[in-house]
Amino acid sequence: MKIIEAQRIKNLPPYLFARIERMIAQKRAEGVDIISLGIGDPDMPTPDYIIEELSREAKNPANHQYPSSVGMINFRQAVADWYGRRFGVELDPKTEVVSLIGSKEGIGHISWCYLDPGDTVLVPDPSYPVYAGGAILAGAVPYYVPLTAERGFLPDFADIPSDVAKKAKMMFLNYPNNPTGAVATEEFFREAVAFAREYRILICHDAPYTEVAFDGYKPISFLQTPGAKEVGIEFHSVSKTYNMTGWRIGWASGHPDVVEALGRLKSNLDSGQFQAIQYAAIAALSGPQDIVAYNNGVYRERRDILVDGLNEIGWKLEKPKATIYVWAPVPPGHTSESFAELVLEKAGVVVTPGTGYGPKGAGYFRMSLTLSTGRLKEAIERIKKQVGTVKF
Ligand code: MLT
Repeated sequence: MKIIEAQRIKNLPPYLFARIERMIAQKRAEGVDIISLGIGDPDMPTPDYIIEELSREAKNPANHQYPSSVGMINFRQAVADWYGRRFGVELDPKTEVVSLIGSKEGIGHISWCYLDPGDTVLVPDPSYPVYAGGAILAGAVPYYVPLTAERGFLPDFADIPSDVAKKAKMMFLNYPNNPTGAVATEEFFREAVAFAREYRILICHDAPYTEVAFDGYKPISFLQTPGAKEVGIEFHSVSKTYNMTGWRIGWASGHPDVVEALGRLKSNLDSGQFQAIQYAAIAALSGPQDIVAYNNGVYRERRDILVDGLNEIGWKLEKPKATIYVWAPVPPGHTSESFAELVLEKAGVVVTPGTGYGPKGAGYFRMSLTLSTGRLKEAIERIKKQVGTVKF
């Protein structure tokens, strides 16, 4: 019997990183020594004090039962306290914070709370594929808002046609930005709040990279913007800050109605995150923060090796101020796909084609800084040898 899928799942493109993982596995099976600059998955270890907290709490039978789907109050309090210390943002842990099984889970689910089939959602282009993916699954229609180098990869709200803005219900934003490494200013976030108010659009700001920044730059939270909590929420997690991607613990905070709706949806669909992991995340957020400066020192060195190395052979890249990504144009004569294929086939180096993040990613590729300086140097050497000097 052929089992027929629902149209909504048929409409969903294959997940970018699942595709890349399959490609890497195939090449490795052929015996190729692959250097992957693909997924942005921190390679450094989770700090010991966090692991010790997990181990202690995992041994406590009180943590072995179903957790609350919206998170323990002490986890939500730790999030609120961290927002207060880090951004000066006040959050009520009872009504303005909900735990997530990694922020990807909430990003995927938020569309189900606010978009009906046929609704319009504003999705930056390029962007993290889950924004469009979640919306498509909910039957909504993404309207792609271009992010261009000329505008520092910030959307131009004035450029969104008013008939589109009038029917849009939700907009995703993400700074520091994946995949471009761009950062937002306070003024930009003020514009976002004004736009959201004018058109009654819910802003979903995704902020997992606020702690990954270099050269003295300190990213801001969308929730610091006056009025932000009245128009939106922010997704965040411990993944990139404390090297905890596999632990799957994040949160959404901001507008209480949106937090409540996400919690209601989750109570119907999942049973929250294992309490021992929530305790570990509390330890991460409230314990010593030296890991942040340490990670950033490591990523900065890697960023410099990668950017300086590519610039030596003809690129003219600026060093990103934040995130674990370097976003670069492909050499003339190439498309995103042909260049990614060339460096994979000839150099055994995986880069992500820009088109994986949306149509406006065409002509770009992304490299992540989640591998050692030695491997990065080798990747550069291989690209130098196989691609040679390029001219822009
Ligand atoms: C990425 O490489 O874009 C991220 O690691 C994906 C994610 O955070 O889920």
